[in-house]
Amino acid sequence: MSSGPKIWLITGVSRGFGRELAEALLDRGDTVIGTTRNGSADIPRGKGRLDVLALDVTDARAVKTAVAAAFRLHRKIDVIVNNAGYGLLSSVEEATDEEIEHVFAVNFHGTRRVIQAALPHLRAQRSGHIINITSMAGVAPNPGSGYYAAAKMAVEGISQSLAKEVAPLGIRVTLVEPGAFRTDFLSEHSIRRSTGQLQDYAATAGAAHERLAAMAGKQAGDPARAAAAIIQAADSPKPPLHLVLGADAYHRTRQMLDAFSADLETWKAVSIAADYEPPPQ
Ligand SMILES: NC(=O)c1ccc[n+]([C@@H]2O[C@H](COP(=O)([O-])OP(=O)(O)OC[C@H]3O[C@@H](n4cnc5c(N)ncnc54)[C@H](OP(=O)(O)O)[C@@H]3O)[C@@H](O)[C@H]2O)c1
Repeated sequence: MSSGPKIWLITGVSRGFGRELAEALLDRGDTVIGTTRNGSADIPRGKGRLDVLALDVTDARAVKTAVAAAFRLHRKIDVIVNNAGYGLLSSVEEATDEEIEHVFAVNFHGTRRVIQAALPHLRAQRSGHIINITSMAGVAPNPGSGYYAAAKMAVEGISQSLAKEVAPLGIRVTLVEPGAFRTDFLSEHSIRRSTGQLQDYAATAGAAHERLAAMAGKQAGDPARAAAAIIQAADSPKPPLHLVLGADAYHRTRQMLDAFSADLETWKAVSIAADYEPPPQ
């Protein structure tokens, strides 16, 4: 894609990554259509143009309306960033149906609805770049956030399939997989905690929750640098399918790939022996 000014649609620009990204883009003169739940955002316009649309991504009808309105504004969109999301801290056993359904409603269904609403327009354009913010949890989950990981993995799954479906149509897909970044993500405004506290999970899920609580406000990841990395990927003529952000995310992904690879090779003979015998030649 050319490195000239672009038109972006970004969900969740009220704070965090979404706001950093919108600010950096407006500063360099791009056009940003940002969504917030209350329909307003106090973001400096810089050299660019900002339009703000109201959207709670759990509202299926509102997603269709907002995406249609976004395409009407400038008749095309170059980059769509599915950013709105939050984390749920709970052991797998203790989360309630309501907590699980809501973390999927925002992180997975919100994202896939925006994608489904945008695809007819992107197909007509024969261009566009869909950037989905998942997480290192969606690649290499830790204890204590299994349902958040599952919702982000669901986004990973559809995105990898989608990338193959839309590449022939001129549409690109990138998964951004951040580690711990100093946004509001771990603050009481964003993170949700299940009320369960079984002693049997104190050393696993419980310890992970304590580590995260102690990390809030001190995360190593710089959201402004994350925004710059996302812009670099969007400007690249060959954007990656996976963009892992932060040293923690890099090392956790590396460990996961090495462990996966070790299982794959150790059990290779068993894997292959599960097929029918090849017919005699
Ligand atoms: N920061 C990290 O360490 C980290 C790591 C991995 C992945 N991520 C992912 O990065 C993305 C952005 O998070 P962040 O770190 O910027 O956190 P943040 O500072 O808490 O910002 C979250 C954004 O999502 C919006 N949002 C939440 N629920 C929404 C809903 N139902 N409808 C519409 N918007 C909603 C929030 O809007 P309101 O202001 O209205 O609540 C806010 O704009 C998320 O998808 C998150 O999972 C973050």
